[in-house]
Amino acid sequence: MNYPVELPAWQALQQHFETARHWHMRDLFARDPERAERYWLEVGGLKLDFSKNRINDETLDGLIRLAEEAGLPERIRDMFSGRKINNTEHRSVLHIALRNRTNTPITVDGEDVMPQVNRVLAHMGQFSHAVRSGRWLGYTNQVITDVVNIGIGGSDLGPQMMCTALKAFGHPRLRMHFVSNVDGAQLRDVLERVHPETTLFIIASKTFTTQETITNANTAREWFLREACEADIAKHFVAVSTNRQAVAEFGIDTANMFEFWDWVGGRYSLWSAIGLPIMLYLGEENFLEMLAGAHLMDLHFFNAPLARNMPVILAMVGIWYINFYGGGSHVIAPYDQHLHRLPQFIQQLDMESNGKQVKRGGEAVSCDTGPIIWGETGINGQHAFFQLLHQGTHITPVDLIAGLTKRSNLPGHHEILLSNVFAQAEAFMRGKTADEVRAELAEQNLPEDEIERLVPHKTFSGNRPTNMILLDEVNPRNMGSLIALYEHKVFVQGVIWGINSFDQWGVELGKQLAKTILAELNGKLPPQAHDSSTERLIRLYRRANCDTDGTCAAFADS
Ligand code: F6P
Repeated sequence: MNYPVELPAWQALQQHFETARHWHMRDLFARDPERAERYWLEVGGLKLDFSKNRINDETLDGLIRLAEEAGLPERIRDMFSGRKINNTEHRSVLHIALRNRTNTPITVDGEDVMPQVNRVLAHMGQFSHAVRSGRWLGYTNQVITDVVNIGIGGSDLGPQMMCTALKAFGHPRLRMHFVSNVDGAQLRDVLERVHPETTLFIIASKTFTTQETITNANTAREWFLREACEADIAKHFVAVSTNRQAVAEFGIDTANMFEFWDWVGGRYSLWSAIGLPIMLYLGEENFLEMLAGAHLMDLHFFNAPLARNMPVILAMVGIWYINFYGGGSHVIAPYDQHLHRLPQFIQQLDMESNGKQVKRGGEAVSCDTGPIIWGETGINGQHAFFQLLHQGTHITPVDLIAGLTKRSNLPGHHEILLSNVFAQAEAFMRGKTADEVRAELAEQNLPEDEIERLVPHKTFSGNRPTNMILLDEVNPRNMGSLIALYEHKVFVQGVIWGINSFDQWGVELGKQLAKTILAELNGKLPPQAHDSSTERLIRLYRRANCDTDGTCAAFADS
């Protein structure tokens, strides 16, 4: 069978779509006064209003049947039980173990992983207490004031997003910096603002081989050693990795290494030692709160019936657009300013997980897979790309995310913010008909011909889907639940498409080619055969950066 498109539920949805595609959400709301109440879910401090989607009960039944026929309940159990569902790397996928606050045993190769998880958490806790309390001193006996996390992708985005989101809970003495780009400008900008005596560097890399991270880490160490000596490194450099040997080779004492394991994917790692910057900034208690919030979502995901399961609903409604309407992009629009890094975080989570073109067995997929995830703070988006979302030709579902309660005590701001969130959802759903536009313009006493000229431009088709996700409060617990919600949503969609959401081979080719090109740029390799465009670019670089005799002495040592 050609999975999943030949599943009976898929076929039934295809037929149902032929009717559904003519619906307008305005009519769905008009016909069904209880719609908002029914298409509503709450988990912990999170509320999901999914009523403003092009769905009815029949659509939802069909989508849930599809999830069942795809074997979702079994796949969920497989993940939670430690089965090696990452089949191209022969790994379990156990970010849920990192926040398993009830400590029920979870085994990998016959061994319960919980004792190691708790050991590392305790190590992180001791270290964080020491730094935060001022007991941990730098080489000149000064307290740490700046923490520089050097990492990229999952070793950067999660900690950065959480520290930004939860700034209100941050330690007042600690300034957090995140360096990911190998463009020296980013590291230089940070180093200009910090002092070696009071700075702690966290070198965060699952593999400890990532070129950008290791290059930045080496430069940071050289910068440090201009003022201090080798013996001082232990007080200012710690590592987070699965690769003990590479950490030791880099020169970091493995006593200052915070370990995690190959069953934690990079983009799922903020709950592990990769979350060390989060714990340093927010404190152990808040970090554990974040884990507790994620655990709450895990328990809900594991136990709730599919039809009342928040990650499952988000995922399946997404499938409806991606695979039946052909909508290949999805917007994340947080309205809380401190959540401004969330779109980038979810972008990696979703696109690196589900940007796949073959199924688990290697056969080509038979339907579209992961959507293009993009976004920005909603309020800024309203004054930029929302035009396309309202009147463009694409169907782009939008997740509108906001905190219900005030974050600042500046009068008037929160009401304006939330009025915009709710208004956008209403506008996307209702639109504005030609008759409404006519009536509005007539009230302004415009001449008839001018009204008719403007009507097509001022009409909004509406019927544009949104999910409204509200956090009672933006706090560590609710942020934990929110991120776990998206993790599980991505997992569910991967199950439906039959792909492995936990590898990322697609990032390798560019890395491989860059090695040869780097050697050509710095003159260590003579020009190699490439396509004419690449060869031209390399020549251009060398003309701009190398000496006239063709040697690149300035780069030869780098
Ligand atoms: O190149 C992609 C990737 O491997 C991501 O999956 C990962 O989050 C990132 O690079 C960083 O990897 P590492 O933590 O091993 O440095």
